[in-house]
Amino acid sequence: MDAIQPETVTVAIEGTGQNVSLPMIRGTLGPSVIDIRKLYGTLDVFTFDPGYSGTASCDSKITYIDGDKGILLYRGYPIEQLAEHSNYMEVCHLLLNGELPNHKQAEEFHHNVVYHTMVHEQIRSFYNGFRRDAHPMAVLCGVVGALSAFYHDSLDINNPDHRRVSAFRLIAKLPTIAAWAYKYSIGQPFMYPQNKLGYAENLLYMMNAVPPEAYVVNPILARAMDRILILHADHEQNASTSTVRLAGSTGANPFACIAAGIASLWGPAHGGANEAVLHMLEEVGTVANVKPFMEKVKDRANHTRLMGFGHRVYKNYDPRAKIMQQTCHEVLSELGVNDPLLELATQMERIALSDEYFISKKLYPNVDFYSGIILKAMGIPTSMFTVLFAVARTIGWVSQWQEMMEDPAQRIGRPRQVYTGAPMRDYVPVDARGA
Ligand code: ACO
Repeated sequence: MDAIQPETVTVAIEGTGQNVSLPMIRGTLGPSVIDIRKLYGTLDVFTFDPGYSGTASCDSKITYIDGDKGILLYRGYPIEQLAEHSNYMEVCHLLLNGELPNHKQAEEFHHNVVYHTMVHEQIRSFYNGFRRDAHPMAVLCGVVGALSAFYHDSLDINNPDHRRVSAFRLIAKLPTIAAWAYKYSIGQPFMYPQNKLGYAENLLYMMNAVPPEAYVVNPILARAMDRILILHADHEQNASTSTVRLAGSTGANPFACIAAGIASLWGPAHGGANEAVLHMLEEVGTVANVKPFMEKVKDRANHTRLMGFGHRVYKNYDPRAKIMQQTCHEVLSELGVNDPLLELATQMERIALSDEYFISKKLYPNVDFYSGIILKAMGIPTSMFTVLFAVARTIGWVSQWQEMMEDPAQRIGRPRQVYTGAPMRDYVPVDARGA
């Protein structure tokens, strides 16, 4: 743990004379944190924080978010600079190893990824067990979970070499597994990875190429995909990352942990939002329907949310959304695509940013508001949106898992609860339970 300052906070239970002095922990950036570990042992009380909005579950050196200012840093570097000047492989090295690579390190890293992109040939047979109309996220969860059945040689979580090989296997194989989930759903042959291609290029190649024809990946699309991967690479202790850490805290193997993360990402409140945004825009359909839809969103009785808006941490514009919006315009104009859904999205954003409901609740576009429109323009089917998010986020999950495994203070994650059920009572035989 870094920099514990000799500052304390005293917590007292009024009227009892009981109190405890708790240390404050300071990070390099962001608010200080009260270390409550002594609280239960001293005062016999827990803290209550459903949804964990006021709780730091770990210390981490990987990603920093200032939700009020709309700042996102990977290992200290602003996301805007990385999206503009870097590439996904470099960002993967940064997240996993803490620093941007020099030429030699970049080459080595790329080599390690490239030489793990194939999956065990028997994994192909796994796909046949799924229905063709299965959601690709269901297939992804299943196949990634099954990886631990194939790579026994890298499952010792206490061995740094095993952890490293597993990390490369996951980063490298996810695009192959994801692309095959898509190919399976459309009944086309699986395409094997091509070592001469870059990471994003390879992903697009395996999704779009077919064996009888040569396929050249459009460099504009490869660059846009690379940027989308960078923007989704990590986001500190979000739901899926916390799921990975919680699963990992039990000593589960990394493949099982990442499969758990994928399952957690799937929900529409998290990674499933990009798919939900597109369904929402398609349902709204025309500009004339935008205003009535926005009224529906504001009517709480309707339980309709403006998908792609709002965030647990960002109470300002999500910096990734800004880059996405710009990339969206670039991609659409370069491809000559005129998508009416973009006009709908722009109208909705304009209304939301000047409407009291959204302003007072600090609801701004998040990363998913524009990503669906870009992916659609790139010819990617809606059901693959969250799958691509999972591919991008794998490096974040793996980096966070590795950081946790290297932390000597790491313990099993085990939240407590406020029990509100029946008090202790005696068993009643069935005949005595009444009608
Ligand atoms: N549309 C309309 N109202 C909203 C929205 C929205 N998208 N998001 C939040 N609100 C309202 C809630 O109704 C609530 O109102 P209330 O105070 O009157 O009860 C208030 O804003 C706070 O909302 P919570 O759900 O308590 O906020 P929380 O931090 O728990 O949720 C979340 C954040 C899940 C992202 C939420 O904003 C949401 O559901 N957004 C839509 C789904 C989405 O885009 N998810 C992607 C998130 S980014 C990512 O995971 C990559």
